[in-house]
Amino acid sequence: TTSSVFKRAAETVESLRLKLPEELSRPRVAIVCGSGLGGLKECVNKDEEFDGKTEWEYKDVVNFPMSTVPGHEGKLIFSTTGPRRVPVVLLVGRAHFYEGHNMETVTFATRVCSLLGVQTMLLTNAAGGLNPDYAVGDIVCLNDHLNLAGLVGFHPLRGPNAEDFGTRFPPLSDAYDIQLRQLAHRSWEDLRQEGSRRRMHEGVYAFVAGPSYETRAECRMLRQLGADVVGMSTVPEIVVARHCGMRVLAFSLVTNKAVLEPTVRADEPELRGLGREELDAYLGRGKANHEEVLEAGRGAAVDMQGLMLRIVSEL
Ligand code: 6GU
Repeated sequence: TTSSVFKRAAETVESLRLKLPEELSRPRVAIVCGSGLGGLKECVNKDEEFDGKTEWEYKDVVNFPMSTVPGHEGKLIFSTTGPRRVPVVLLVGRAHFYEGHNMETVTFATRVCSLLGVQTMLLTNAAGGLNPDYAVGDIVCLNDHLNLAGLVGFHPLRGPNAEDFGTRFPPLSDAYDIQLRQLAHRSWEDLRQEGSRRRMHEGVYAFVAGPSYETRAECRMLRQLGADVVGMSTVPEIVVARHCGMRVLAFSLVTNKAVLEPTVRADEPELRGLGREELDAYLGRGKANHEEVLEAGRGAAVDMQGLMLRIVSEL
C-alpha cells in the first residue's frame, strides 16, 4: 500500500516534471540553503536557455510548505552546476519545526528530492558555536548529531512507517557519509590554496526545537553532552534522507558564539551599584540575535559557494 506522504510527494514530483525541461527533471544532487545562505544559488550555471520553467516560489509548488522567516526566500531552483553540468535542485529556505509545522511537513521537501531521483543531499545551516575553539564565520562539516527534539518524541519518522521510502528502524550511526566528508576536506584544501582564510572543522550538531536561543545553562548542558554547534534545522531532513537511502553531507556556518559563560549571579560584588544600562551591557556580551546570524551568512556565502561547487563537480 502507498503511504499518504508518498502520494503527496509523488504529486509534487509529477507536477514539477510536467513543466521541467527533460535535462533537469532528474537532479542527482540537492542543495539546501540555510539562513542567509541563499547566495549559494549563485553557484549554479546561469548561461543556459531551457525550454520550460526552472524556478518556483515554494507557494507555487504543489503541496509545498511555505517558509515565513525573514532571510528565507522560499524558492525551488532546478539547474546544473560546473562544466560537467551536473543536474541539481536548490532549495533556498526551508520549513522549520518552530514555525509550527509538524515533522512531516518539515521533511516533505526531502521526500520530494528522493522521488526526483536525488542521490546526494548537501545541507547548510546557520548555527551557534558551542566549541570554544570555534569563531564566528568558521564552517563545520557535521559528522554526527544530537536529535534532542527527536529523543523526546518529536521525531520525523514517528507514526506508521512509510515502507515505500524505507525501513521501520533505520540505523543512523553512519548517517554522515565518510567519503563525502573526505571530499569536503579535499575541496576545502583546494579553496585554501586559492587564498581563503576561513577555517573548517568537523563537529557534532545539536538539534533543538527553538525558536528562542539557548540560555547559558542550556549552552553548557549541550556542550557537556558533546555538541559543537547548536541549531534549529537540518537534523529532521537528514534523518528522513537516510531513511530514503540518500547520502548526506551537511555544513554549519558558525554565525555567533553560544554563551558559555556562567549564569550571572545577581549578588556578584562586581555588579554592585550598576544601573540598568550597565547591567544590560554586562549581560549583553555574546547575546545571540537574528541580524548577526544573517550577516555572518552573507559574508561566508562566497566561500560556501566555492566549496559546494567543488564538491558537486566531484560527485
Ligand atoms: Cl546560538 N542557537 C540556535 N538554537 N540556533 C542558532 C544559533 C544559536 N545561532 C544560529 N542559529
